[in-house]
Amino acid sequence: MVTEVFTFAIDGLRPQAVTVEADLRRGLPSFTIVGLADRAVAEARERVRAALVNCGFEFPMRRLTVNLAPAHLRKAGPGFDLAIACAILAASGQIPRESLARTALFGELSLGGELRPCRGVLAVAEGAQEAGLEALIVPVACAAEARLVESIRVGALSVLSDLSAVLSGESDSSEAELPAQPVPASRYLPDLADVRGHRAVIDALTVAAAGGHNLLLSGPPGTGKTMIARRLPSILPPLSRPEALEVTRIQSIAGLGADGALADQRPFRAPHHTISAAGLVGGGAVPIPGEATLAHRGVLFLDELSEFDRRALEALRQPLEDGAVTIVRGQKVAHFPTRFALIAATNPCLCGRGGKACRCSEPELARHRQRLSGPLLDRIDLVVGVERPSSAALAAESLTTSAEVAQRVAAARELQLARGGCANAQLIARDMVAAVDCGAVAASALARAYDGGGLSARGRDRALRVARTIADLEGEPEIGIESLAQALGYRHESERLGKR
Ligand SMILES: Nc1ncnc2c1ncn2[C@@H]1O[C@H](COP(=O)(O)OP(=O)(O)OP(=O)(O)O)[C@@H](O)[C@H]1O
Ligand SMILES: [Mg+2]
Repeated sequence: MVTEVFTFAIDGLRPQAVTVEADLRRGLPSFTIVGLADRAVAEARERVRAALVNCGFEFPMRRLTVNLAPAHLRKAGPGFDLAIACAILAASGQIPRESLARTALFGELSLGGELRPCRGVLAVAEGAQEAGLEALIVPVACAAEARLVESIRVGALSVLSDLSAVLSGESDSSEAELPAQPVPASRYLPDLADVRGHRAVIDALTVAAAGGHNLLLSGPPGTGKTMIARRLPSILPPLSRPEALEVTRIQSIAGLGADGALADQRPFRAPHHTISAAGLVGGGAVPIPGEATLAHRGVLFLDELSEFDRRALEALRQPLEDGAVTIVRGQKVAHFPTRFALIAATNPCLCGRGGKACRCSEPELARHRQRLSGPLLDRIDLVVGVERPSSAALAAESLTTSAEVAQRVAAARELQLARGGCANAQLIARDMVAAVDCGAVAASALARAYDGGGLSARGRDRALRVARTIADLEGEPEIGIESLAQALGYRHESERLGKR
């Protein structure tokens, strides 16, 4: 009789149900694993055999076939070890089959039978919940992560010999050995209190954080662009629980999850400019998420924007516009979410001086312009010049602190969520009319700006979203003329940079 055990494979970012079938029959002793397994799964044979024997179980000396179904789904990683071991134990009558009936198992085994943590446990727990299973057994180090899904019983297993007790729910055998619940140490984040001067830049950063808008900082070397951009995480609005679960799931699958605790900060990804298009948006023979997905619900920071490979930047267009990227490889299609705010920094030209002091030749200027302009720039709502701070500004106190700005940002974001259910940058055209309440004076000023030809239809919509965020920061119910003028100012900078 064939024994079946439930487990899950991670397909892109989605959990897919996998059934481990074990068949034991008379014949020369052998152990075969079939079902589109990668190398790590094939090696499970050796780990499972040693783990069973070292934990006092018997390895059946018969012809053993293990099948991972469905066969068309590619199975990667060592997370199938535990389910394979349990299928063998049940097939050989060493544990009762019924004990596995409504339970999923997931974890890597050491040769001694200890359970090692695996990537993607949160996604597996969500999959088990969707599949209507009652329990999930995972390595003790991953139990906190699995317990983020509340409606399923999580058994924490530290060593295979405790299996029966944990399966029956008698003991979370290893409860005593559970590592102390991680207390999210509020990590130190660089603070805006370190920045002197730059009021306009901090204002733009505040608007970008509050509404989730894309921002470009342009200025000569050493004026503080990188420094300011790196202070963005300290003012971003807090994650809602569904967002935090999304971020935790992605980080866990990518192997970035720190301690199984729920993510308490928005991600901030700052890839080096040598990154490839696949590294940025995802790819590979078995598609894996790129930086754009690791930055989902947070910030993607591209420092030295003009140094990035043009193809990599072009690849960002779809994810920026749609909030998701679809990657097709052979017969496989993977969807990855990419809802991030883009923050970029650049020098105004190759020599970095910009303006009248610029010593670039015409071809150099043209090359720089070509790299910056185009479709990416069109999707950047806020462009601000970061000028050299005056000596008086450098000597003076800083203008604000991150705590102060974060409070305003959080309040503005709450207004947006109450109004449209999303950050202003994500308002779709259909909701714009209802959500973006423009005062009469501002409306006629906007019409003039548009009719004057200085603004594209896309630019107009984008400026309106930014104006809505500025009004939210000011607590204005309808967009006033000042908010609109400020938004158009950021936009004009952007159109200038594209044309220069
Ligand atoms: N406004 C400022 N307030 C306080 N310190 C500053 C300011 N601007 C620059 N600095 C100091 O100068 C250092 C360099 O700044 P930063 O690296 O941010 O420059 P940048 O504009 O990114 O230059 P580059 O174009 O060369 O990348 C900072 O780490 C900081 O110590
Ligand atoms: Mg820099």
